[in-house]
Amino acid sequence: MVGSEFYHLWGQLLSSVKTGEDATRITLGSSFFEYMTRNPERHRLYDDCMRAVHDPETAPMLAAYDFSGCETVMDVGGGNGSLLGALLCKHPEVQGILFDLPSVAESARQTMEKLGVSSRCVISPGSFLETVPADADIYLLRHVIHDWQDEDAVTILKNCRKAMKAGSRILIAETVIPAGNGFCFAKWLDLMMLLVNGRERTEPEFRNLFSQAGLKLQRILPTSHEISILEGVIP
Ligand SMILES: C[S@@+](CC[C@H](N)C(=O)[O-])C[C@H]1O[C@@H](n2cnc3c(N)ncnc32)[C@H](O)[C@@H]1O
Repeated sequence: MVGSEFYHLWGQLLSSVKTGEDATRITLGSSFFEYMTRNPERHRLYDDCMRAVHDPETAPMLAAYDFSGCETVMDVGGGNGSLLGALLCKHPEVQGILFDLPSVAESARQTMEKLGVSSRCVISPGSFLETVPADADIYLLRHVIHDWQDEDAVTILKNCRKAMKAGSRILIAETVIPAGNGFCFAKWLDLMMLLVNGRERTEPEFRNLFSQAGLKLQRILPTSHEISILEGVIP
């Protein structure tokens, strides 16, 4: 993946930095996830790539946030299911729903089986740009919102907001760009996301997204990794 699609995307960095335009249409012929939907083999490889890149974040996230006491957690854009699977292993009382595009459903099913938690997890294929299933206590989105510019990001959050019941919480796990001009990993990731029409965000930018979706950013929990957990509630 890094030697093919990502390599060609990074080749357009200068142009993207100059214009602010993403590089997917030039290199992949469509938006990133339209390309993935057209090429299910590449989507499966991308999904494995996400497992490799994001798995080290899972234990720090589960240590930073207390999931005990909640009945149902939905991992929205949960991909291969490694985060939700680990969460279900740590919290045997929790039920899981994994919501993602149909092409990654099989990989998620296999993860749940391998971890022995299939009986507590429903794999629900669909598009979060259209709708999100209802009634979970927690809606979890790790590295999902950073794939999208504000308009689509707000659509996804609004669809989660519609699905939430009284007392539900929404958790966005992303890097948060700090104020100031020092080095930080989030700024490198911001360049990567620029190439695929996404972006990393600052705290005020997240607060604004939440508010446009009818949600309130309640608190931000740092983890021992680069990502933080931004907790949103119905105001
Ligand atoms: C950057 S990956 C993050 C995956 C996972 N949450 C993680 O932390 O590794 C973004 C995920 O969003 C999913 N996705 C993209 N467009 C989607 C859509 N319209 N509806 C549902 N899921 C979508 C992708 O299939 C992918 O699994």
